[in-house]
Amino acid sequence: MKKAIAPILDACCGGKMFYFDKNDSRVLFQDIRAEETNLCDGRSFKVEPDIIGDFTSMVFPDNTFNMVVFDPPHLRWWGKDPNKKPTGYQQIKYGVLRDDWRNTMANGFAECFRVLKPGGFLIFKWCEHDIKVSTILKLTDQKPIFGHKSGKRANTHWICFMKE
Ligand SMILES: C[S@@+](CC[C@H](N)C(=O)[O-])C[C@H]1O[C@@H](n2cnc3c(N)ncnc32)[C@H](O)[C@@H]1O
Repeated sequence: MKKAIAPILDACCGGKMFYFDKNDSRVLFQDIRAEETNLCDGRSFKVEPDIIGDFTSMVFPDNTFNMVVFDPPHLRWWGKDPNKKPTGYQQIKYGVLRDDWRNTMANGFAECFRVLKPGGFLIFKWCEHDIKVSTILKLTDQKPIFGHKSGKRANTHWICFMKE
């Protein structure tokens, strides 16, 4: 691991598009992949996490972080072959959810709350392109505090939880 444990974990950082500083030392950046590719418009796109890891089964001890940022893939992918990678621009940028998305998301929430300290905050981002936010929120027993909708179609939700 490049960085010592930082106070904030981004469980699936992707291209770190929403960060002011993509090398912020307060954040430990995790993703399931490291990759550099060109998108269809020719722009280069990089996923450069500090640690390669799976948000459904993380290596960190319980109660480690003050804050966890969780912005998982929100696009459903219907491809049946687990070895086949999606090729669409959005799928490359944001990743995809496959048939087992309920388990993936339930385990992801459980792991994010496990590694969060009691009293720590989870910042969850969800775009309702394919799956309603109300459906996703049923996959955790933790209670959100507040949320805000954004985006052109007002279908991107930012939601804040605190670990009890
Ligand atoms: C919506 S994108 C994150 C975008 C990011 N917040 C940004 O600001 O650019 C979701 C990311 O989750 C990653 N991902 C998908 N499944 C994962 C898993 N099981 N564990 C960790 N990362 C995963 C994908 O590789 C993708 O980069």
